[in-house]
Amino acid sequence: MTLKVRKAVFPAAGMGTRFLPATKVMPKEMLPVVDKPIIQYGVEEAISSGCDEIIIITGRGKVLIEDHFDISFELEQTLAQRNKHNLLQTAQKVARMAHILTARQKEPLGLGHAVLMAKRLVGNEPFGVILPDDLVDSPGNPCLHQLIRVFEEKKASVIATQVVEGKAISAYGVLDAKPVDGFNGRLYEISNMVEKPAFADAPSNLAIIGRYVLTPRIFEMIEALKPGAGGELQLTDALRNLLQYEKIYGYVIEGKRHDAGDKLGFLKATVEYALQRPDLGPEFKEYLLSLNVEKASHGPV
Ligand code: G1P
Repeated sequence: MTLKVRKAVFPAAGMGTRFLPATKVMPKEMLPVVDKPIIQYGVEEAISSGCDEIIIITGRGKVLIEDHFDISFELEQTLAQRNKHNLLQTAQKVARMAHILTARQKEPLGLGHAVLMAKRLVGNEPFGVILPDDLVDSPGNPCLHQLIRVFEEKKASVIATQVVEGKAISAYGVLDAKPVDGFNGRLYEISNMVEKPAFADAPSNLAIIGRYVLTPRIFEMIEALKPGAGGELQLTDALRNLLQYEKIYGYVIEGKRHDAGDKLGFLKATVEYALQRPDLGPEFKEYLLSLNVEKASHGPV
């Protein structure tokens, strides 16, 4: 097995029910944070982490994602004719940033099942997985690349993790793991993991974040799975079974993670990413400071 992680898999077949009605027709991955669809942040992260093949797992109603990364001849021609060079560059960059492949998940059978749909396209190589809802803001230090560094040294699968305090842990896969030397105290060796445990049953406060580097053996594990939490084929369960054959590490990632698939998380990401933008940040900050937030009304929901 090569040690080079060239491929990144993006499960993007979910229905986005947390964002209805916005996602009734529009794929949630295409909701813009400032002016870029959520999924583009992940694709840019994968590319800056050294991946050159992007595998998007789509489903019904998701063709807009493919169109987004395709060349729009009419748009490019119009922008060129109007001498809108900067906008032309922006449009061209999106279409040419990576080699995009898609596979379809025909039924919503869970994250593990979505990853399995990439089996043929991945083949017998290690690969990254990026859950597009999870935005990780870590300028100059792409989150997937942080995991790839660990993978290259340990030659074993690596899962991104962050501490989540209190009952919120029940929304995540949770690691049972002990710290190991190296990587500035950020590395853990995993002995078990549970998908969305009750607070009382959580083995730690180390939550799985939506970035993974996996060995291809994970596909066999998914194929042998029985439905788990929510009746779905859970990636966490497949990873737990993989522990019988291979070591798996958890890496406490550097950066700020936003759950952009959640309304509040999406709003927070939008505000923070907008504040960082040189073209918008200063004016936006002034506007935010001018808001009398204390007095803002909480109207009927
Ligand atoms: C998925 C994984 C879960 C992980 C989470 C991170 O859950 O199954 O282990 O903690 O992503 O965002 P989901 O949020 O898709 O329910």
